Amino acid sequence: MEHNISLILGDGIGPEVISSVVEIIEATNLNINWEIVKAGESSIKTHGTPLPDYVLNGIKKNKVALKGPITTPIGKGFRSVNVGLRQGLNLFANIRPIKSYPGVDGLHKDVDFIIVRENTEDLYAGIEHMIGEDAAESIKIITRKASERICRYAFELAKKEGRKKVTLAHKANIMKLSDGLFLECGRRISEEYKDIEFEDIIIDAMCMKLVQSPSDYDIIVAPNLYGDILSDLSAGLIGGLGLAPGANIGEGIAVFEPVHGSAPDIAGKNIANPTSAILSGIMMLKHIGEFEAAIRIEKALAFTFENKNSKTIDLGGNLGTKEFTEEIIKHLEVS
Ligand code: NAI
Ligand code: MG
Repeated sequence: MEHNISLILGDGIGPEVISSVVEIIEATNLNINWEIVKAGESSIKTHGTPLPDYVLNGIKKNKVALKGPITTPIGKGFRSVNVGLRQGLNLFANIRPIKSYPGVDGLHKDVDFIIVRENTEDLYAGIEHMIGEDAAESIKIITRKASERICRYAFELAKKEGRKKVTLAHKANIMKLSDGLFLECGRRISEEYKDIEFEDIIIDAMCMKLVQSPSDYDIIVAPNLYGDILSDLSAGLIGGLGLAPGANIGEGIAVFEPVHGSAPDIAGKNIANPTSAILSGIMMLKHIGEFEAAIRIEKALAFTFENKNSKTIDLGGNLGTKEFTEEIIKHLEVS
């Protein structure tokens, strides 16, 4: 079956890690028509905007996209393309599996949980203004609709994946109305899923517990900002940002991308770890029903780490992005 997939290479290390996953998927001989579209810095140069309408329309048509990280300049100027994409396509759930990999030395060896991050509102609603010259205000929006939707998604995911517990992260002791509403929604939805354990925990305490005892967690559901912070923290538990994939899920549309950013500090040097992008690609293949190819890549990746002890530099190995990609392609046959 032929698949049309929108492909955004992204900025910084984006083109390096996305080329890696595309080469690997191509090596499985799947019939994929990659529709390359530009967003981010490269699009500003050619289209005068980082997120042209044709990009959004292309993804709406294809229903699936694979995306590299996009640089968001700090301060005034263009709004985040990532936030624009997520809001523009109503990609309400950001799913980020965090799993220790045999053969990779992370801080912990027994990590296996999924972060379900609300992806459309909270402080990312982008409603900010100056009050005079010396004060600024950012508005945190939490709605019942989005909170119930993400909490339901977390419980449905738990059911589908045979997970036993959903943990909701919040700061409702301080933000009694906004986080309070998120918590109220989680508690209400949890009553519909009696077979799945539910707990809530204050976000700062959760950070400590996650670092000390990550195997206590199964599915974590959180408002946008906490979900973002927990994702990078959690990547640190298993070996770093090079190992954390993600999927942005909406109604019939999905955009797959690594958790990490464009890493300008290592861009263009052939040292980025493409594993987050590869794992995002595996999630994408499963999403479009190409399980055989997905499992082949999964096995080749595991074989490369475990049996060949082949790794990129961030994980203590000595392979460049291209060389690591070649290793995986080699092991697509033998694994
Ligand atoms: P970052 O995630 O790009 O980098 C943080 C640190 O992790 C850096 O030291 C980097 O070298 C390292 N790192 C990240 N990915 C790696 C990989 N695959 N292999 C090896 N090392 C890796 O975060 P930073 O520096 O805060 O952000 C850079 C830019 O990326 C910013 O403009 C930010 O807005 C953007 N960003 C974009 C995202 C997206 O498009 N989804 C997500 C996060 C940040
Ligand atoms: Mg982030």
